[in-house]
Amino acid sequence: MVNSKNYILAIESSCDDTSAAILCNTKVLSNVVATQEIHKQYGGVVPELASRAHQQNIVPVVHQALAKANIDKKQLSAIAFTRGPGLMGSLLVGTSFAKSLALGLAIPLIEVNHMEAHILAHFIDDENQTAPEFPFLAMTISGGHTQIVKVTDHFTMEVLGETLDDAVGEAFDKSAKLMGLPYPGGPLVDKYARQGNPLAFDFPKPKVDGLNFSFSGLKTSILYFLQRETKNNPDFVSENIKDICASVQYTILEILMDKLKLAVEQTGITQIAIGGGVAANSGIRSRLKEAEETLGWTTYIPKFEYCTDNAAMIGIVGYLKFMKGDFTNQSVAAKARYTIGS
Ligand code: KG4
Ligand code: ZN
Repeated sequence: MVNSKNYILAIESSCDDTSAAILCNTKVLSNVVATQEIHKQYGGVVPELASRAHQQNIVPVVHQALAKANIDKKQLSAIAFTRGPGLMGSLLVGTSFAKSLALGLAIPLIEVNHMEAHILAHFIDDENQTAPEFPFLAMTISGGHTQIVKVTDHFTMEVLGETLDDAVGEAFDKSAKLMGLPYPGGPLVDKYARQGNPLAFDFPKPKVDGLNFSFSGLKTSILYFLQRETKNNPDFVSENIKDICASVQYTILEILMDKLKLAVEQTGITQIAIGGGVAANSGIRSRLKEAEETLGWTTYIPKFEYCTDNAAMIGIVGYLKFMKGDFTNQSVAAKARYTIGS
């Protein structure tokens, strides 16, 4: 039943963050994220360890979200959860938990596509962000995804292009690893890049038709470049870290901006909404600002806590689906591969 105040509990467990949020309509009352530190020592996410950590974290994280929002579970109107895409073992934890709790409380259950949630995070009511106007182009850039989507309304989305191999965050992290930087290396590459020369070294851009991306070739060319240079000078990386990071970042940003420009050319849409952890990158932020001035685009980036994986973005989709009466039943199963619109 729709009330003037609808409380949605949202659960996200698709990768290595266990998160729970409480929304009252479009406002976030709490958004608790337990980031799994265990993966750092392995230089990347280990799926089996991720699902075990979700199992340990889920109950305390949900308790904390309810407590922070000052809401009793009896007040909840519905439970939204990430059905996919993501790691199967991780998704199973959130899915089973959401199903059991919804059954126990006898309230509706709402399934959410994680990629749609990254896009609809822009519609969270928060003084620090503005919702884009329809139609807009959404570019989701994270450690797991790289995608350009045409968004006609909240629930009409079309994937125009996506990565054929690594995600852009992986390109940052793998390049960082080759330079001996700790995981996740993206923020460090960004930090060093700010002090370096982006044109110091030249890395090739992949030739991929249309709006799809490829980042695996870049990683290989960086590997060969570093092998060649360190053969002559074993201290090459430490002596040139700022310039290498600036050049790697420049190449990655060129790839992203080229595809965005092509998407604008093909669709005539100049409202651009960015999401995902890589949206924190200072370089992409300044390139987008520049595009506002030179190309007349209007660009949107949500508050950082709604860019990285979080349950608040699951909650906003939950609320929008709740208003439509779009519920799922207890036979729903997690879906590791789950494209937008499928
Ligand atoms: O969205 P996210 O928190 O998790 C998922 O992958 O879903 O994104 C994490 C990714 C990592 O690859 C990390 O290195 C990258 O976002 N990242 C950055 C920056 N901050 C986070 N990459 C470049 N520059 C940054 N400032
Ligand atoms: Zn994500």
